[in-house]
Amino acid sequence: MAEKYRVAIIGCGARGAGRTGAARAHEHWRAYAATGRCRLAALADIRRENAEGFAAEHGDPASPPAVYEDYAVMLREVRPDLVSVCTWPSLHAPMVIAAAEAGARGIHCEKPLSTTWGEARRMVEAAQRARTALIFTHQRRFEPQFRAARRLLRAGAIGRLLRMEGTCANMFDWGTHWFDMFHFYNDEQPARWVMAQIDTREVRQVFGAPVEGQGLSLVHFANDVQGLLITGEGRPFPEVNRLVGTRGVIEVQMPGEDDKWIPVRLRGAGDGDWRVPEIAAEDRSGPAGSVAAATEDLLGCLERGGEPELSAARALRATELIFATYESARRGGRIDLPLQADDASLTAVVEARGGAGA
Ligand SMILES: NC(=O)c1ccc[n+]([C@@H]2O[C@H](COP(=O)([O-])OP(=O)(O)OC[C@H]3O[C@@H](n4cnc5c(N)ncnc54)[C@H](O)[C@@H]3O)[C@@H](O)[C@H]2O)c1
Repeated sequence: MAEKYRVAIIGCGARGAGRTGAARAHEHWRAYAATGRCRLAALADIRRENAEGFAAEHGDPASPPAVYEDYAVMLREVRPDLVSVCTWPSLHAPMVIAAAEAGARGIHCEKPLSTTWGEARRMVEAAQRARTALIFTHQRRFEPQFRAARRLLRAGAIGRLLRMEGTCANMFDWGTHWFDMFHFYNDEQPARWVMAQIDTREVRQVFGAPVEGQGLSLVHFANDVQGLLITGEGRPFPEVNRLVGTRGVIEVQMPGEDDKWIPVRLRGAGDGDWRVPEIAAEDRSGPAGSVAAATEDLLGCLERGGEPELSAARALRATELIFATYESARRGGRIDLPLQADDASLTAVVEARGGAGA
């Protein structure tokens, strides 16, 4: 198939370095390459060696990508068709806005969107103004165990959905996935209010952004389903989702460190114990994995129209729940949506309490 898209990546990373050694840019490029219609045109990284290492590993020697240290210069000179933003969250908004204004047709930005609610909204608005298709890496929507859980839920395996539960390390870096999955399971119903509490005695930095020591967030959706997110490092559960219905429970897990991983289990009416349902062919999104499936979906929307599964509009709804959680903790009460406070952030909670450790 003809190469249709010139791709640029901002924030190349270096495997084994960075906060987790993940270097998400590699995953983004693997996904573009899997489509068979993308060419690596340019790379930008303030650490030139990271961009050069990336070019050596993934570039076409016959047509190597141009390497830049300044992403703004890269965007101006290359005018790429597609841009991936794989830097840390506080840099996402200016980079996405610049890429949209430079005429990119599609942008794939890593999660979480940004460190304040106002910035998240501004970046999504900039993409809308420029008619750029913007997606964020909430790739769980393409992972088989989550899709299996939603298929079982829709088939009535646990009756009517009453409550969704999630457990994870924090509201921001991990919570963005679970707040997104609440919308995924609950047929994209809008949230009406959030009531939450955050403990700020031990604020830590994750990818350069502050996260709480512990938190609780109760979300009420328009169809009266509720979502409960429980965060903190010391909790007794790993990263789990639970769907509680009128006639049973579905539980979804992330892969653990041992071989006892049960991706989905179900306890419905009449089940004496948990049972492990099959992951169906329709739950699987393809051999190249979830980020590749999301990238193919983005290109399909550029070519044929439609809303990408990982659309900015959906990502913004999940992000609103993160910042409404912080705002609820700052004000000490329920926050009705839409969230009005542009400055809502964990930093604002800490400041309202008189500083870190309070
Ligand atoms: N979707 C997921 O499941 C998932 C998993 C892990 C991380 N993430 C997210 O991915 C993002 C990136 O994480 P990572 O581990 O790949 O980071 P990383 O540290 O490996 O890479 C970031 C790169 O950005 C570069 N950079 C910094 N400032 C820059 C600037 N001004 N201009 C250009 N380049 C700049 C750094 O030099 C580095 O090479 C984070 O937002 C993180 O939350 C997502």
